[in-house]
Amino acid sequence: MRFRRAKAILAYWRERRLCFDNYLTRISVAADQTTLQILSFFDRWRRPDELCALFPGYTPASVRHAVQQLAAHTLLVGEGTPQAKQDAHVAKVWSRWLPEGSFHFATKDAQYINPEWGLDYLKSILPKTPQPAFFKTYRNVAHVDLPPCELPDSEFLRVLITRRTQREFSSKRLPLAVLSQLLALTWGVTGYRATPLFGNLPLKTSPSGGARHPGEVYLVALRVEGLVPGLYHYHPVHHRLETIRKGAMQSRAFRYCAGQKHAKNAAALFLMTAVFERSMWKYHMGRAYRVVTLDAGHLCQTLCLVATWLGLAPFCTAALKDTLIEQDLGIDGIRESVLYVAGVGLPLASERM
Ligand SMILES: Cc1cc2nc3c(=O)[nH]c(=O)nc-3n(C[C@H](O)[C@H](O)[C@H](O)COP(=O)(O)O)c2cc1C
Repeated sequence: MRFRRAKAILAYWRERRLCFDNYLTRISVAADQTTLQILSFFDRWRRPDELCALFPGYTPASVRHAVQQLAAHTLLVGEGTPQAKQDAHVAKVWSRWLPEGSFHFATKDAQYINPEWGLDYLKSILPKTPQPAFFKTYRNVAHVDLPPCELPDSEFLRVLITRRTQREFSSKRLPLAVLSQLLALTWGVTGYRATPLFGNLPLKTSPSGGARHPGEVYLVALRVEGLVPGLYHYHPVHHRLETIRKGAMQSRAFRYCAGQKHAKNAAALFLMTAVFERSMWKYHMGRAYRVVTLDAGHLCQTLCLVATWLGLAPFCTAALKDTLIEQDLGIDGIRESVLYVAGVGLPLASERM
């Protein structure tokens, strides 16, 4: 079989060791000069025996073994294999945002929190130094005291101040009409802006870099009155739910959110993804990846505020099983990938607004 160097490789020094990471498989290897030479050699499809000429001092068997090792660690890909196809596909689709965009793949499926970590374990892994100050103070500089912040009684301010992350919910169902308001006010198209270059750009209640709106949202209906439990796609123009799968979703919700119990006790989850091409088409620099994730943050805060206004209990989470979610959604994780998850439930009576 012929091999070539994986395109999804980042190389760097950690301390004094040269390291190679395949950011798609998330396999890291500490290597030496020989590895570097071999990887340079395989910049196009080549057979392992062609490599022997480069290392006359080594037996053909040991050269073949080295190639096998590098293939096992995914730094080389075999011609025609699914890994080689995936590697080439990512390099092509993400060509404009690489290498910066490798961050997206390198951090996928990483364990961010584990609900089973107890306080003692957390304490043991935290640095022994005090935690950094939460606020920055300029000392010995002139300062201006601001007038006391007197707030008028307003619905907006009550919502703003009342929003809190909730992790306990009543077992009541979320009325479909309320879900409809949540979706429309967070992801619905509220208007269009006519532009000479891009035609009518959609507008929503959240800002979006260049009005590209790369975000899509999928509903996990757990306990919604009048809606069969399942997975749905929300269409922001037609304001409708498109069915992806029907069936109880509690255990999947739990797994999607890396084993967090409140996710399965919620009434609905919102799986937020991005269709990168919408942004890549216009923005050719890797920095635009930031914009895509910033967009998701805006949408999530809007959801939390709208949910609070509707008397619901919202939460958001970055602890996700990305690949599992993407498989269930039927998206490839390359052109479209999950970024963020939020959820709502009905509040426990004592926490009602
Ligand atoms: C990007 C982001 C990721 C978060 N991920 C989690 C999470 O994985 N699990 C969780 O229980 N809370 C998560 N939270 C919620 C925060 O813990 C919460 O916002 C914080 O404690 C402040 O509380 P507040 O939202 O009530 O102001 C996340 C919040 C943000 C903004």
